[in-house]
Amino acid sequence: MKIVVTGGAGFVGSSLIFRLKEKYPAYEFIAFDNLKRRGSELNLIDFQKLGVPFVHGDIRNAEDLAALGNFDVLIEASAEPSVTAGLDSDPTYVINNNLYGSINCFNACLKYNAKLIFLSTSRVYPIETIEKAAFTENGTRFSFSDNQTAAGISAAGISEQLSLEGARSFYGTTKLSSELFIQEYAAFYGLQAAITRFGVIAGPDKWAKPTRAL
Ligand SMILES: NC(=O)c1ccc[n+]([C@@H]2O[C@H](COP(=O)([O-])OP(=O)(O)OC[C@H]3O[C@@H](n4cnc5c(N)ncnc54)[C@H](O)[C@@H]3O)[C@@H](O)[C@H]2O)c1
Repeated sequence: MKIVVTGGAGFVGSSLIFRLKEKYPAYEFIAFDNLKRRGSELNLIDFQKLGVPFVHGDIRNAEDLAALGNFDVLIEASAEPSVTAGLDSDPTYVINNNLYGSINCFNACLKYNAKLIFLSTSRVYPIETIEKAAFTENGTRFSFSDNQTAAGISAAGISEQLSLEGARSFYGTTKLSSELFIQEYAAFYGLQAAITRFGVIAGPDKWAKPTRAL
């Protein structure tokens, strides 16, 4: 089993590689990253210790992905992950990186008949709808109430019933667009894919600042 993690040197990508390598020592994990996120280069030392190959590449460049050769699974964990990216200026970088770059990853999966796990986000939900949702403040967290005006929000969280109408940020829109493209790739090209919509993930080694477009 050969698993490529794009954005593999980032917060989520590297955490996944470290945990999965522990659980499946016989699997081969490859960390692919352009090291745009400052601090991600610090993970290269641990990759070396663990025998995890690192490939310096950019998902916007299909040739970088082609150089990986055959693989079985691609976990797409690379992105400009900031919800504020492009909000006050040209959004070209976030669109190219998160949407066109992701599509290069989908094409690479098709080439090798590999499966895809796509890290999406709760930012696909419209900002205004979420801001209007009723919630209660508990000791350690905010929880949605059961009594809501919008269908699809309850104490159990947000379901696929929630309307996606409304602005959600360029970041959220690139992720939602990628989700839609994945469905097309699944329907017309037979891509086997799983989409996960995370909320805010926090933990050690999170750098948590918008990266600057080069
Ligand atoms: N952290 C969260 O709270 C959160 C929540 C929901 C979804 N996500 C998603 O999870 C994924 C990982 O997020 P993260 O928090 O680890 O972010 P991160 O910035 O720590 O990691 C992203 C990594 O991708 C790399 N990268 C960026 N553009 C690239 C490109 N064009 N080619 C190759 N590598 C590139 C960066 O150098 C970085 O190492 C992202 O897709 C993000 O949208 C994160």
